[in-house]
Amino acid sequence: MKFFIDTANLEHIKEAQDLGILDGVTTNPSLMAKEGISGKDQVLKHYKAICDIVDGDVSAEVIATDYAGMIREGEELADLDDKIVVKIPIIKDGVKALKYFSDRGIKTNCTLVFSAGQALLAAKAGATYVSPFIGRLDDISYDGIQLIEQIRLIYDNYEFETEILAASVRHPMHIINCAEVGADVMTGPLSAILALLKHPLTDSGLATFLADYEKAKNK
Ligand code: E4P
Repeated sequence: MKFFIDTANLEHIKEAQDLGILDGVTTNPSLMAKEGISGKDQVLKHYKAICDIVDGDVSAEVIATDYAGMIREGEELADLDDKIVVKIPIIKDGVKALKYFSDRGIKTNCTLVFSAGQALLAAKAGATYVSPFIGRLDDISYDGIQLIEQIRLIYDNYEFETEILAASVRHPMHIINCAEVGADVMTGPLSAILALLKHPLTDSGLATFLADYEKAKNK
């Protein structure tokens, strides 16, 4: 399973990249705003800065919600760097835009997906990635992981090449559950990724090993 980090924070992206396990980055307009990035020029510059840090795909979201606007913005984003993946919402014009970019070999990430039907349309339109938001589904008492399982079954039935990118991952169990049900990619915050490291027996075991080493040295 690929690991993407879901943030526009350059320090977090650098830290994940330095770990050596990072496969890409996803952002959205809210994450950009959280970092104080606003206006087209700043936004484009920030995407470029992210591309300069990571080796993998970097999802950059369009703001327009009409077909012509999405194409214009998407082309501008794609021109920034080869790593850019144009992120497009699953709305009617979005499906048309996904098809437009897929026909031209430009990578896309279909976002704001909350149902199997939406995921099926994204795959039909040739999206590179589909992003079901599992945390937001859990927030309203739907089962996000169950949706990933359903999409996995549908995509496998027809050998769709669209990759399932589990988004809105909030904690380490989401990551483990995504891996269990066969998500291709997960995107989550640095905190969820680092939380995978934690185990009290690792901490106490390491403390004992170090203490025993010191004791033996001082004998
Ligand atoms: C996906 O690409 C989105 O950026 C993201 O995962 C949304 O997560 P949230 O529900 O925690 O805002």
